[in-house]
Amino acid sequence: MSTLAPIITSALTRKKVTTLTFRQKKEQGEPITMLTAYDYPTAMAVDKAGIDAILVGDSLGMVVLGYENTLPVTMEDMLHHSRAVARGAKTALLIGDMPFMSYQISVEEAVRNAGRFLQGGGMDAVKLEGGRERVDAIRAITGAGIPVMGHLGLTPQSVHQLGGFRAQGKTAIAAKRLMEDALLLEEAGCFSIVLESVPARLAELISKKISIPTIGIGAGAGCDGQVLVTHDLLGLFDRFTPKFVKKYASFHSEMQRAFADFIEDVETKRFPAQEHTVEMKDDEWEELLRIM
Ligand code: KIV
Repeated sequence: MSTLAPIITSALTRKKVTTLTFRQKKEQGEPITMLTAYDYPTAMAVDKAGIDAILVGDSLGMVVLGYENTLPVTMEDMLHHSRAVARGAKTALLIGDMPFMSYQISVEEAVRNAGRFLQGGGMDAVKLEGGRERVDAIRAITGAGIPVMGHLGLTPQSVHQLGGFRAQGKTAIAAKRLMEDALLLEEAGCFSIVLESVPARLAELISKKISIPTIGIGAGAGCDGQVLVTHDLLGLFDRFTPKFVKKYASFHSEMQRAFADFIEDVETKRFPAQEHTVEMKDDEWEELLRIM
């Protein structure tokens, strides 16, 4: 039997993951898993592997669209990729990342744009970045029945305000502020919070203090779950790899090797071979030659 068989069988019998599952997993001390996906085949593979949640992250802008940061990503970009992911995933909780300027201008716009992720994007929940300054928007979005995941610490949409992609909460004052923000997000109705690039012991303390699950990225083992950007995990994104990433494959070099093999095969006429070729019956061929 293939080693994939148990994974595929369990994928067929798995129940849809909900925000309630997140809470239950935290209560039972079971780690929550989350990965990003931006397209149909990746969503399918991640879902079949048994992931709890798929984030259609605005990291899309960097790892798929080639921007320097996440700021140019639009609602249209996010909805386009969300729909592809929703077609590929069956059981994971699907979370759409609200892009820069889709929730900052007014609470009304934040609710409208969050709603678009569920109504037109096939998502189950949304994620947005920020602490105390986002409480009103989070209250209004959750008030509309839309689950919200918060995101604290290194919040990439504030890269210019933070002075670069740098770890956060490293001083006692900054750590206290982060803890306060986590409590405020919980109180505002978030079902979970991503903690990005914060000291491990601070993330662990926050995870113990709040009742909703924390999902860490570069925040140590004390979080209730872990998320990585799939293109980092697969070694698909070659521009840089953050220190906190564990690479499980080297797909960029594997892709380059496959492309180079194709080029060589075509240039040396090894491809296409007989088995890649469409045949025509002799009598039809003879007839063609006759009528031409
Ligand atoms: O956009 C993204 O992929 C994210 C994760 C890093 C959490 O926000």
